[in-house]
Amino acid sequence: MRVGIIGGGQLGRMLGESAQLLEIESLFLEPSPSPSAAVAGEVIVAPYDDRVALDRLARECEVVTYELENVPVDTVRYLAGKVAIHPGPGALETAQDRLAEKRFFRSRGVSIAAFVPVDSVEQLEAGIELLGLPAILKTRRMGYDGRGQLYLADPEQASGAFAALGSVPCVLEEVVPFDRELSILAVRDRDGATATWPLVENRHAGGILRWSVAPAPEVDRELQLLADALATRLLEALQYVGVLAVELFQVGDRLLANEIAPRVHNSGHWSIEGALTSQFENHLRAILGLPLGQTSVLLPCGCVNLLGRLPDLSELLAVPGARLHLYGKEPRPGRKLGHVTVLGADHGQIRARIDAVRALTAG
Ligand SMILES: Nc1ncnc2c1ncn2[C@@H]1O[C@H](COP(=O)(O)OP(=O)(O)OP(=O)(O)O)[C@@H](O)[C@H]1O
Ligand SMILES: [Mg+2]
Repeated sequence: MRVGIIGGGQLGRMLGESAQLLEIESLFLEPSPSPSAAVAGEVIVAPYDDRVALDRLARECEVVTYELENVPVDTVRYLAGKVAIHPGPGALETAQDRLAEKRFFRSRGVSIAAFVPVDSVEQLEAGIELLGLPAILKTRRMGYDGRGQLYLADPEQASGAFAALGSVPCVLEEVVPFDRELSILAVRDRDGATATWPLVENRHAGGILRWSVAPAPEVDRELQLLADALATRLLEALQYVGVLAVELFQVGDRLLANEIAPRVHNSGHWSIEGALTSQFENHLRAILGLPLGQTSVLLPCGCVNLLGRLPDLSELLAVPGARLHLYGKEPRPGRKLGHVTVLGADHGQIRARIDAVRALTAG
């Protein structure tokens, strides 16, 4: 069996590694030569919209998926006419446009931050009047890791901010006074069966995920059920196949949805060691029409991203309970070079081990 994977970054690499355990081959499409995923399968080096390359994926693979959100929707549509591709173009299209995404959440009764669409400086000024400041201006498209957004504290910033983001369509959002950030990963298979992993607590800095704890501490049954129901509702609404991540803000006992990622997600890396079935394996099982694996937790985990430069490996490996994953990428400021999952007996031990890893890294 062969699976086509559009994108050759670390998510593709970990999908491919998971596929190897099931003796499923991976064929990647990735424009940059020698990408992270090259250790896990053959790479077609071509742009994501290269028709010859797409035809080859369709011809040689049973099913195609993608590991990045900014693959052109036209690529997915084109492939959908030739081969099974999951998730389908509808989910991708929704996730790529923050405005469509917010309307989708609302249409499904999911709470979100107050927002206004912004297509001009005038609309931005009106939005600031309406929502008040501080607020966050975000481009509708192509944002990731906090790129394409600006925190506005002063109405004077309006015209400069809109121009600084390229005068492209945006949304202005209230700043949510959240207690913490959470995410839920969920999976749906081709027959409509679903499963969720426990809520994960995520800490960001500068818009980039720094570290996570899974399962999130202090989650009562109601909160988990609320998140499960929310994620499952979204999966069903999209007739989704594969793993979906939903980023959430917790405010008291409420959950506001921030965004969805139509793919495996950084906040699910812990599941490689910490869950009976990882997000990567269940994504493959779902898209290939295999039965989903159980998502039960084996041990609580922390996950720390290694950003920009690698710490001393022997110090890192000396942290008790640490499992190191390197992505084979050249160091560059802010770049995700790997992650460390720490396992422990309880949340106290996890936090101590996360702190030990963080003391060795810039993250
Ligand atoms: N409305 C908000 N209120 C408070 N904090 C916010 C808000 N929107 C975003 N943030 C903070 O900025 C981070 C990045 O925002 P968001 O997830 O919208 O952007 P992104 O760049 O698309 O991120 P990703 O890499 O997850 O795709 C959030 O995880 C959160 O920490
Ligand atoms: Mg996000």
